[in-house]
Amino acid sequence: MFVFDDAESVARAAAARVAELARESIKARGLFTIALSGGNTPRRVYGLLADEGFGEGIDWPSVHVFFGDERMVPPDHAESNYRMANEALLARVPIPPVNVHRIDGVGDAAANASAYESEMRGLFDDAGWPRLDQVLLGMGDDGHTASLFPGTEALHESRLWVAPNWVEKLGAWRVTLTAPAINAARHVTFLVTGAAKAGRLREVLKGERDATRLPSQLIRPSDGIFEWLVDLEAASSLEPEWLLAQSEIRQPKQQK
Ligand code: 6PG
Repeated sequence: MFVFDDAESVARAAAARVAELARESIKARGLFTIALSGGNTPRRVYGLLADEGFGEGIDWPSVHVFFGDERMVPPDHAESNYRMANEALLARVPIPPVNVHRIDGVGDAAANASAYESEMRGLFDDAGWPRLDQVLLGMGDDGHTASLFPGTEALHESRLWVAPNWVEKLGAWRVTLTAPAINAARHVTFLVTGAAKAGRLREVLKGERDATRLPSQLIRPSDGIFEWLVDLEAASSLEPEWLLAQSEIRQPKQQK
């Protein structure tokens, strides 16, 4: 776990990490595959990668972008995760459009989930699980991640890479990568900021295991690196001794 002074420092560290993994993956395998997250925290990360030099040195034609989840809205809708990532990052860097794999949010969620899984299977080894180089995740203040919400069906998925998920409290369908698909990645990076998430972050990390209530607890890469980038506010319910035992406290000046 890495604890930073504030949300801006978390975003800068995350952007630097994406760029580092992109360079390493392209060097090692000729390709970098990443699943982006929606939500507010990553928006700044995408902006830094596009406009503030963090993305320089990334060979964008060798990058394939996927999405961790999508809302059932058209791609130009204000709530579309694709639209956010496109405006903040994808339209601003020389990534070939064919390398951007968006989840269709129009029509039937089950059909869209299955079409997305087929698209992923075309790029990854069809057998087993997808080996994404990096999955970026946020955590909602109810403990959800991607569109794996508390008490929902998709939490129990053990076969599909991508699932439709009815979220009663939103009265809406979502399409989401499943926990086993996320857990197959080489790196999983959670970004969590703000005091509103402090209590839930503590429960996820230190509470009883109850993944139906706290879906973020389902995330445990099976053969990958698990990283939490959090700010002091989000970490404020964790005891300093516990944090020190497993943290690297990074000062923002090291990120500039
Ligand atoms: C979404 C996201 C979702 C998000 C969390 C945290 O589509 O809503 O993918 O899982 O990451 O809700 O969002 P914030 O970073 O905005 O708090």
